[in-house]
Amino acid sequence: MAERVKIVEVGPRDGLQNEKQPIDVATKVALIERLVAAGVTHIEAASFVSPKWVPQMAGSAQVMAAVPRAHQAKGVHYSALTPNLQGLEAALAAGCEEVAVFGAASESFSRKNINCSIAESLERFRSVTEAAQAAGVRVRGYVSCVLGCPYEGAVAPAQVLRVALQLREMGCHEISLGDTIGRGTPDATRRLLEACLRELPATMLAGHYHDTWGMAVANVAASLEMGLRTFDSSVAGLGGCPYAAGASGNVASEDVVYLLQNMGYETGIDLDALVDAGLFISQALGRAPQSRVSQALRSA
Ligand code: HMG
Ligand code: MG
Repeated sequence: MAERVKIVEVGPRDGLQNEKQPIDVATKVALIERLVAAGVTHIEAASFVSPKWVPQMAGSAQVMAAVPRAHQAKGVHYSALTPNLQGLEAALAAGCEEVAVFGAASESFSRKNINCSIAESLERFRSVTEAAQAAGVRVRGYVSCVLGCPYEGAVAPAQVLRVALQLREMGCHEISLGDTIGRGTPDATRRLLEACLRELPATMLAGHYHDTWGMAVANVAASLEMGLRTFDSSVAGLGGCPYAAGASGNVASEDVVYLLQNMGYETGIDLDALVDAGLFISQALGRAPQSRVSQALRSA
């Protein structure tokens, strides 16, 4: 049987959080319905952050109230970002079964993104993970700026590992390594993963690569060689981080699925249906999908 790779679809959150135009709840839910119909099982659907900081995510509770739930029995999981206890409480009330805390390997990015130092953030995350675990909810941990920071430049793999280890120690079941500004190349990705894999199993790590410099698919391929089997991606290549100027979308889900299918991995995702989901949201946003595979399939 083909080896399975887990795709965490972050389009509804990372993909849409930075959109300036209003996107109504119905459109977000319709996107999620299409992703579920395409066979996507892990969807980061919402973000319980301050609406003053990220206005686009303000409707997260309504989104969570309307996502298709019947599929949960078939193994569909919805998750949401929760920077603090206030966010966690909102996520629990909205029926999230997994939440994510999000830290950074760079002090400056931590302050710009969540208004506190790395050490302060880890203290906050500890109370979030404790409360989430008490409620029976799994916690994922993000580390941003793993391959470079928009404010500080190069980031040492050892610093990424330090933050990742603390997230693991407080109980995060998975650590997602975020190349927030998409500066990473396969070589740099390998060096980062070599450092992380000395202390953490590959099964605990996820690659979260933004495609700003066009390197994200290559970084996914390099990570596969290093043993990673979980990747975050965004349908139609939607996205950008509000606190990383110039950051573009995550690697497009269609491109990752095409790569994996052709390498013989199983994803459970129907590529044509995924392309349709990407077209749906791109039309709603008034632009073409950023996925090269989507463009190629449609012009073939
Ligand atoms: P703060 O201003 O320091 O918070 O923000 P505070 O605790 O001092 O509270 C100030 C106000 O915010 C209060 O309201 C709180 O109620 C409210 P007021 O009394 O002034 O009316 N507040 C909240 N409201 C709703 N939900 C909450 C919440 N917490 C406080 N959870 C905070 C600190 C962390 C809240 C803020 O900085 C924030 O929301 N930041 C979010 C930034 C963000 O979402 N960035 C994008 C996601 S990260 C990312 O994209 C990277 C990733 O994809 C990986 C990668 O690519 O690298 C994950
Ligand atoms: Mg991101």
